[in-house]
Amino acid sequence: MEGRKPLIAGNWKMNLDVGDAVDLARSIVESLKGRTDRDVLVAPPFTILPAVRDAVGSRNVFLAGQNMHWEMKGAFTGEISGRMLQGVGCTHVILGHSERRTLFGETSAMIDLKVKSAALLGLIPIVCIGESLEEREQGRTFEVLEEQLNGSLQNFRADALMPASTILAYEPLWAIGTGKTADPGQAQEVHAFVRGWIEKTFGGAPARDVRVLYGGSVKPSNISELMSMPDIDGVLVGGASLKADEFIPIIHYQE
Ligand code: PGA
Repeated sequence: MEGRKPLIAGNWKMNLDVGDAVDLARSIVESLKGRTDRDVLVAPPFTILPAVRDAVGSRNVFLAGQNMHWEMKGAFTGEISGRMLQGVGCTHVILGHSERRTLFGETSAMIDLKVKSAALLGLIPIVCIGESLEEREQGRTFEVLEEQLNGSLQNFRADALMPASTILAYEPLWAIGTGKTADPGQAQEVHAFVRGWIEKTFGGAPARDVRVLYGGSVKPSNISELMSMPDIDGVLVGGASLKADEFIPIIHYQE
């Protein structure tokens, strides 16, 4: 991990009503008392962000949007801007989640616009990449990931600059919500590839500092082994982040 602080992030997707979300946020905050050796983040649905922000208060739980539009404002029915996310307390935003890419037709070019907009605002992007089962079986994993990285971070490449705060998340599509986790060795292999890509594209400093998360069926029983891998700097948790009795043990994993 070489000095990169672990980040445990919960992606609540389109789940939880306001009451359950506030209870969960309070339990997380309560469990974190005195704990400073890891960062914790939750990404609630847009409409409950203010309530979760109030429950979290000034405590050390970061808030993220699950998506945003690249424009600051305007006639974009149904969309939310990065500035609006900041207005309700978000410091981070998840971009290019595979559900956005596959179910809502987001391309790497669109994600690139969003990353650029987030970076302009000072909102930290968590940029997701991942291959499908078919692509893995065809031996195309690295090719697909490189294409997604090149496309989604085109603006950073044009400036030859990747901010150290940028976060990447490797989420193999075949492991999301399936109960099937990439085995730690498999995940480490990809994370090392991603770090190598950062180094070759942006140089040694971002390759050392940028955190690369793993996502896909992370649970209390596999977190420790995943986090023991040298290039896995944290996790993006879906299903298991919705229940205190699963997410809190994940947050407090021990290597
Ligand atoms: P999962 O989702 O933990 O439910 O597999 C992960 C994600 O989509 O971020």
